[in-house]
Amino acid sequence: MKRIFSGMQPTGNLHLGNYLGALKNWVALQDSYECYYCVVDLHALTLPQDPEKLRAAVREVACAYIACGIDVSKSCLCVQSAIPAHTELSWILSTLTPLGWMNRMTQFKDKAGKDRDKQLLGLYSYPVLMAADILIYHADCVPVGEDQKQHVELTRDLALAFNSRYGETFPVPEPLIMGFAARVMSLRDGTKKMSKSDISDYARINLTDDADAIMLKIRKAKTDPEPLPDTIKALEKRPEAQNLVSIYASLADQSLETVLTQHAGAQFSTFKQELADLTIAKMEPLTARMRQLMSDPAEIDAILNAGSEKADALTQTYLQEVKRRVGLWL
Ligand code: AMP
Ligand code: TRP
Repeated sequence: MKRIFSGMQPTGNLHLGNYLGALKNWVALQDSYECYYCVVDLHALTLPQDPEKLRAAVREVACAYIACGIDVSKSCLCVQSAIPAHTELSWILSTLTPLGWMNRMTQFKDKAGKDRDKQLLGLYSYPVLMAADILIYHADCVPVGEDQKQHVELTRDLALAFNSRYGETFPVPEPLIMGFAARVMSLRDGTKKMSKSDISDYARINLTDDADAIMLKIRKAKTDPEPLPDTIKALEKRPEAQNLVSIYASLADQSLETVLTQHAGAQFSTFKQELADLTIAKMEPLTARMRQLMSDPAEIDAILNAGSEKADALTQTYLQEVKRRVGLWL
């Protein structure tokens, strides 16, 4: 079986984009791959975190994984900071990373804005840690949303760089970018992605939102005055309309064409009502399960500890090989 690694940062506000762009696909992959799904808490340190809240957020993300359908009897759930091989490999990879590669990372440019000198090294170098996350498992495939594609490409370059310097060691992993909701956009601005950190809560549907909140947010979502068109092409210059249609298609497991055929000519007021009903029907069982899981933190901790132990054992064997090849003390 081929191996999968993917991860999510424990930075609160998991949303519909995380579900449709990542988690839903992770669930679908469990039967055909050996899966490692990690809560990447070291990545969260690239922004200031409150220590107690960070640990609670790790549990919350793990609950979301399970509530969305990750089955711990099939997939390994683990926590990055409990598995030291991630950071050890990260240092070694950083010694093979030209600054020119890092300077191309668009996510850093977006997050850093104008005042680059004030940004912290961790935010800049985080794609190298992400590469280590993936390579230390010898992962073959990495399911992520569109926004992470460039980081997986850097990972591939680093695998090749290590292999050519020290001999064939790492498989070169493939990004798996699935479905047409690989990029769910903000409900307030169809040109920005739905994000955990958006200051407006109306921009996203959180995995903890109840039915009333979902209804209100979809009703208030930005649209244009035109009704739904009957072709995909006609959606191209209408980012908000396109986003709502894509969300509908992804939740209903239908193609964009099917959704448009069924709803062409409808006003957005009508379509939004149907979208809200569908979203509530799909998300409510997940949020209920999530609340139930969060009421028993000891159980979640036990799952994460067992998974992290398994991941630690696997990654230590690969790390030993790396150290031997590099000439480090064993
Ligand atoms: P993050 O929220 O940045 O920790 O991302 C966790 C996973 O969710 C990654 O695979 C992202 O690509 C995916 N993701 C985050 N935001 C979105 C979005 N708006 N649309 C689709 N996928 C997303
Ligand atoms: N950087 C990813 C994000 O912000 C999270 C992540 C960290 C990740 N390490 C990873 C995703 C390894 C896939 C594989 O979404």
